[in-house]
Amino acid sequence: MIVLKCNHGLQGTVTVPGDKSISHRAVMLGALAEGITTIDGFLPGKDCLATIDCFRKLGVNICQTGSRVEVEGVGLRGLRAPQEVLYVGNSGTTIRLLLGILAAQPFRTVITGDESICRRPMGRVVVPLRAMGARIDGEGDGNFAPLSVYPVNGLSGIDYSTPVASAQVKSALLLAGLYAQSATTVTEPAVSRDHTERMLAYFGVDIRREGLSVQVRPASGLTGRHVVVPGDISSAAFLMAAALIVPGSEVIIRNVGVNPTRTGVIDVLKAMGGDINIENLRDECGEPVADVRVRHSRLRGITIAGPIIPRLIDEIPVIAVAAAFAEGTTTIRDAAELKVKESDRIAAIVNGLRQMGGDAVALPDGLRVQGGRPLKGAVIDSQGDHRIAMAFAIAGLMANGDTVIGNAECIDVSFPGFAALISTLGANIARTGESDKCIEYKNYG
Ligand code: S3P
Repeated sequence: MIVLKCNHGLQGTVTVPGDKSISHRAVMLGALAEGITTIDGFLPGKDCLATIDCFRKLGVNICQTGSRVEVEGVGLRGLRAPQEVLYVGNSGTTIRLLLGILAAQPFRTVITGDESICRRPMGRVVVPLRAMGARIDGEGDGNFAPLSVYPVNGLSGIDYSTPVASAQVKSALLLAGLYAQSATTVTEPAVSRDHTERMLAYFGVDIRREGLSVQVRPASGLTGRHVVVPGDISSAAFLMAAALIVPGSEVIIRNVGVNPTRTGVIDVLKAMGGDINIENLRDECGEPVADVRVRHSRLRGITIAGPIIPRLIDEIPVIAVAAAFAEGTTTIRDAAELKVKESDRIAAIVNGLRQMGGDAVALPDGLRVQGGRPLKGAVIDSQGDHRIAMAFAIAGLMANGDTVIGNAECIDVSFPGFAALISTLGANIARTGESDKCIEYKNYG
């Protein structure tokens, strides 16, 4: 992908593809429910398509056309033994949440993913699932995929405190908890995204939150529903950062999910001096949704640490890029989780910014960016990490000279049509190789 410097402001009103986390969950809960679940606004990105593929192999009929999905629920006990290995591609959410469901099934499954997935830690899910009675084997004592999940004689409920705030771990345990013989309680060190809890309640499950704990009881059944998925704030974040750093910009992103467990990026960009307005706040299927208006702003560096981190963990690459255009220092701490994402994101961000002439240093649990240095175009290898590819494409909009993002196809994991969409706002980003035609976008501006 080639990004040219943007010599004029970005202007327009757009929508971004559906929320990745909510899309995964809608397919999963729809599959386990009684009756039909229809999903509108589904993200047809590679990660969520991997979830659909896994459930088809587990015997669920799913019809997907673009962002419209129909799932014929088989009920909590209706999944069938797959004839093949379940393959999740690059999707950590698919493998970790699915492990919670598979642990309770009366058949054996083998689940794996791409090279990045096979490097990422699965012990954080496998260890508590084993404590519930699950039998799971894999490399490194079950820490790495491929993983084999064996049938057991029922799971027991658990009262578990997670060492890291992870929605994937919490969700896996809550899903296993639906099948357990007693209640399951998960307590986190800080609140992580709560889409599973909201959607379980929406599908009729008795689920309760108290402070940092959430409890689910063994379920008799879920009821199929109509789910409308809002735009993904993690995708919108790239457009927000672009509008903030390119002079003369004003962009409205309609229909963005603004669940408070996800809006850390807005809080931080505002604290950096960003002119961001939330308009038309409403509720859709138990999730808050709004339009977000962003205008170019002079940014200043800040410190980002503590319980806000899980609320913006996926947006740190693009926040770091915004920080490179801010006055002063931005320090990000308490974010060691970045090292075990789709790539080691601390290294990827710091190396990329340095390659572009920026001033960034890695810290053991985060990074420091000294803003204000002019960036120059460079050739950046995304290392197959979609958010690294998009973050450096945004940096390229304000870098002198052309920026080339290598391995940019990975953007399809979460934001198919990224280059086309941002081009409708006036940016000059061209996707090389395979054409960027998955989704048609409208610029209402
Ligand atoms: C996700 C949870 C987060 C996030 C990931 C999606 C989810 O991961 O980084 O992109 O949908 O539950 P962790 O649970 O590892 O923090």
